[in-house]
Amino acid sequence: MTAKSVVHYGNPILKKKCKPVTDFSNLDPLIDDMFDTMYEENGIGLAANQIDVDLQLFVVDISDIDEEGESIHVFANAEIIEAEGESWMNEGCLSVPDVRLDVKRPNKIMLKYQDRHGNKFTNEFDALLARVIQHEVDHLNGNLIINRVSKAEKISVNKELRTIKENSLKTMKSKEIH
Ligand code: NI
Repeated sequence: MTAKSVVHYGNPILKKKCKPVTDFSNLDPLIDDMFDTMYEENGIGLAANQIDVDLQLFVVDISDIDEEGESIHVFANAEIIEAEGESWMNEGCLSVPDVRLDVKRPNKIMLKYQDRHGNKFTNEFDALLARVIQHEVDHLNGNLIINRVSKAEKISVNKELRTIKENSLKTMKSKEIH
């Protein structure tokens, strides 16, 4: 179990539609690493491609914010099949550090997914959990919060994005060399 480094905006894996999970027999080490990384970075959700793994898998822990009900989750091959309502929230993302944007999303979703063992479910989620799920499903389809706001808003964080991208490319390059 190790906290991995989080991949930042500029790395092409964040623009990719990730591959479905088909082998559920040995996911535990990856899932443990994902939780460790998320806790290390103080996140409430993390998608596999954020640690450079091309798989439709994400983890969520909203227990710090929402103490009611089940708050620690693992989702594989999640697909939003229905959505309704709308709400706004100021979102951040571990892959776009120091950028926060107001993002409008449906408030309630119907989600088809599998758990860490491959069992299939269809469930309804709302409020914060629905919000985090939509953010992570976006990741696994190659979308970031900057793809969910107006052009003007994206331009307002252009400077920050450019810096993140430059650093991200530098990191990728140094990994190729070593
Ligand atoms: Ni994110």
